[in-house]
Formats: sequence, structure tokens, C-alpha cells
Amino acid sequence: WFVGYSSRHRASQQTLKSNRDPSTAMSEPIRVLVTGAAGQIAYSLLYNLGNGDVFGKNQPLILVLLDITPMMKVLEGVVMEMEDCAFGLLKEVIATDKEEVAFKDIDVAILVGSMPRREGMERKDLLKANVKIFKSQGAALDKYAKKNVKVVVVGNPANTNCLTAAKSAPSIPRSNFSCLTRLDHNRARAQIAKRLQVSANDVKNVIIWGNHSSTQYPDVTHAKVKVQGKECEVYDEVKDDSWLKGEFITTVQQRGAAVIMARKLSSAMSASKAICDHVRDIWYGTGEGEFVSMGVISDGNSYSIPEDLIYSFPVVIKNKCWSFVEGLPINDFSRDKMDLTAKELAEEKETAIEFLASM
Ligand code: NAI
Repeated sequence: WFVGYSSRHRASQQTLKSNRDPSTAMSEPIRVLVTGAAGQIAYSLLYNLGNGDVFGKNQPLILVLLDITPMMKVLEGVVMEMEDCAFGLLKEVIATDKEEVAFKDIDVAILVGSMPRREGMERKDLLKANVKIFKSQGAALDKYAKKNVKVVVVGNPANTNCLTAAKSAPSIPRSNFSCLTRLDHNRARAQIAKRLQVSANDVKNVIIWGNHSSTQYPDVTHAKVKVQGKECEVYDEVKDDSWLKGEFITTVQQRGAAVIMARKLSSAMSASKAICDHVRDIWYGTGEGEFVSMGVISDGNSYSIPEDLIYSFPVVIKNKCWSFVEGLPINDFSRDKMDLTAKELAEEKETAIEFLASM
């Protein structure tokens, strides 16, 4: 099954036009895969991608959309809508249910699709179903994608799915894989901004440590806030340690569940915004003096987190490569919470490895 449309003619007109004006010269198109493309996160995300909100207004795109066979009719509708958006940057949209088509020569993979938890489903069964998906997609990355492909895993359990994909793609550097904890990061910034009645843009360097689950540790020990033009410590400005060590943390940890309770659907608009922030930072780097949270492979040294887990750390990104923000002092309160979420990830990993070995 294969749907596709191409707007080569329109794009070549743009190239011709931009060739006369080097300041707006268009680059070569990049090939971006979104999985779970018929789902609700993708419905927001595809608009942002097509609109140039992630790779910029001068970066043409070929968008590849993967979903499972029963969703192809829905995906056809999504493709029609993308066409109707008349995005100038879209050179081509390819919709498919075949991994060998989806992963071919891609520059970026945004892996949103995963097996959702059904009522009565055991955690282990959910993990097993996802190990199967991400093993297969990891192998497809290994076989078909460019070797410098950047892979972002969103589908839950995001950290362990990311680890499974990375382990199944031995020819692609581990550092090219990351999982999304930027939504939690943004939630933490927003809670602080609301409390201090400033713009979310004035809050930076919050950290999400660990798993994208309710054991994650949102940490503002090193966070800064701009108040009347001056950069201050969040702790000094909030002046309420019990809120910062209590309600603030649980609000961020349980925000996803609260959205589901209210909306009867999971966070999609905010997840899409976070994916855009995450991928844009991978592509163009983080701002001066700023760090962000990303699930990346642990090396066993940084912050004494056991090696070979996809664990959310503070990172900076330059030239499309991330590095740990090293040397932040960690107090006992933080240490306990960082270890707790690492323990959960180590258990998930053990189960995933067991399943991987048996497949
Ligand atoms: P959704 O259920 O609306 O869409 C998921 C789509 O994935 C469906 O169209 C489904 O057919 C597809 N899919 C399932 N298996 C697939 C496979 N093997 N290959 C390709 N596509 C496949 O779900 P929604 O709301 O879009 O969420 C997607 C995932 O993102 C969920 O796992 C959700 O828990 C997770 N999520 C993660 C967040 C994070 O911060 N890391 C935040 C919000 C959601």
C-alpha cells in the first residue's frame, strides 16, 4: 500500500526563484520519517513540520509517513490535508505501511507510533509488544537509513523503546538516538513561570532526570528565571522549598495523567510542540548558556547513572551532537530521586533484553 504525492514542479519553481537571490537560497531537501502518522500527535506535528517550524523556512522536506495497514485509509486523509495546506516547503509526501519504504535514506526519524496500553494489559505485555515494534524499526534503521540519521523516540515507554531501537541498529552511533522528555521539561518551565507570573521564555535550565514516567525527577536546583531583566535562581525567587520539593514535582510527574483525565485523550498539542523543540535543538543547537533535557545513552560516569540506559539528562547541543552538562552539584534529595528513576529504567531494560533475546 503506497500513497504519494509530489510537488516537484512547485518546489523547482521556488528553487529557480531563490537562485536569483542567494540570501533566500533553498537547501537540498531532507527526508524526515514520522511513524504513528495517522495518530493524534502526528496530526499536530505534521503541520509544524510542513510549516517550517522545525527545520526552518528555507529547508525543503520530503515527509515519509508510516502507520500500520488498518490505518492506511485514515493516513490517506492526512495526506490530502497536507496537500491542502499548500506548504511551500513540502517536496513530497510518502505514506506507507512498509518499513523498507519508510526508513529508506532518511535523515531524521521521529518514532511516535507504538502499542498503546489496553485495559487489563499487564505492564510486561505492553513492554513486550513494544520491544517487537522497536526491534523491527531499529533493524530497518540499520538496513535502510542514512548512517548519520537522528532518531527521536516518542512512543511509550519512550526510554526503553529508544534503547531497543538503538541496540537493534548496531551500525548507527548510539549518540544519534534520543527519547523525548522535553514535554516534561516544558511542563516544569511552565509551572515555575505560572508561579512567578513571568513568561515561560524567562525560565531556563530546569532538568528532567530519568524515565519519561511518573518516577521522573523534575529538578529546578540549577534553574534560572529572568525577573525584571535580571537572571536569578528559581529557588531564591520562589522562596517556598516545600512547594518546590513537593507539589511542583508531583504536578509535573502526573501532568500527563491529568490531561488524559480531563481530555479523555493524551497530550497531543503539547507533545507535538515538545517534539519540535527537541528536534530543532538537535538540528540547530541549544542557545548560549542554556541546557535542555533529553533521554540519551548513559556512559556510567555522568552523575553516577548506570551505563547503557536511555536516561534523561541535562545536555547542550552543538553541530548536531549533544554532550552532557557536567559537574552540577547534586544534593541528597536529588540523588535519591535520580537513583529511584534509574532503578525503574534498569528493571525495564532487563525485561526488554529478555524479550529481545527470545525473539
Ligand atoms: P495515537 O494512538 O493517537 O497514535 C498512535 C499511532 O501509532 C496510531 O495511528 C497507530 O496505528 C500507530 N502505530 C502503532 N503501531 C505502529 C507501528 N508498529 N508502526 C507505525 N505506527 C504504529 O497515539 P498518540 O497520542 O499520537 O501518542 C503516540 C505515542 O506517544 C503513545 O505511545 C504515547 O504514550 C506517546 N507519548 C509520549 C510522550 C513523551 O513525552 N515521550 C508524550 C505524549 C505521548
